[in-house]
Amino acid sequence: MRIVLVGPPGAGKGTQAAYIAKHRSIPQISTGDIFRANVSGGTELGRAAKEYMDRGDLVPDEVTIAMVRDRLGQDDAREGFLLDGFPRNVPQAETLKKMLAEWDQRLDVVLELVVDEDEVVRRLSGRRTCSKCSKIWHVDTDAGRDDVCDDCGGRLYQRDDDKAEVVRHRLEVYAEQTAPLVQFYADEGLLVAVEATGPVEEVTRRALDALRPLE
Ligand code: AP5
Ligand code: ZN
Repeated sequence: MRIVLVGPPGAGKGTQAAYIAKHRSIPQISTGDIFRANVSGGTELGRAAKEYMDRGDLVPDEVTIAMVRDRLGQDDAREGFLLDGFPRNVPQAETLKKMLAEWDQRLDVVLELVVDEDEVVRRLSGRRTCSKCSKIWHVDTDAGRDDVCDDCGGRLYQRDDDKAEVVRHRLEVYAEQTAPLVQFYADEGLLVAVEATGPVEEVTRRALDALRPLE
């Protein structure tokens, strides 16, 4: 199955992507995670992306699209994938459609995680990420309070772009550039809205329920 997850920063895309991809046995492809790994690895791609990410702006399309094309062309993505954080604007969505058509593929569904703005600000301001396994936590959880990952023992850190002023800017960028994707995918007949407030497991159940009719 070929799935795209959309939703504002902090909607829980990364959290849900991990569970859904595991459940469907497809690779989770998170453009933000790939960029962050390249920034910490000091690669050329990381250097190209860093200044945009630090400001909360989108990395230029040509950089992002080349990276996604490369990733989707790998063997493990041939039978399906879950994209988290891509596409991020209508030109990226149009390019993705063309790219998949070249390979005789198409998306099966776009899940939109729906959460209000107060909740995403609360979630982002308390987010902690594992420096070892990338698992996402929140300061309201035991792991978040101790700053140690319950899964692997790694140290948790706060993302640079989770500072209040950068979060505000990311929300503006979402509203201007990414929110129009919701209409784009509704017109394509691919959009399914998933209510994303409530416990993580409940949101996962709703997302998996939404996929069941497509099996
Ligand atoms: P990216 O990493 O994709 O960031 P984002 O879209 O802003 O999304 P987030 O990772 O902030 O949030 P999320 O929805 O994954 O929420 P999470 O699960 O962590 O992108 C970062 C940057 O990279 C961009 O700004 C841009 O510069 C660049 N970039 C990436 N893709 C790009 C593209 N395609 N084009 C151009 N540039 C690109 O959850 C958040 C918190 O909430 C956590 O603490 C979590 O524990 C908690 N939480 C989750 N679910 C629940 C729940 N149900 N109840 C309570 N708390 C919850
Ligand atoms: Zn960990």
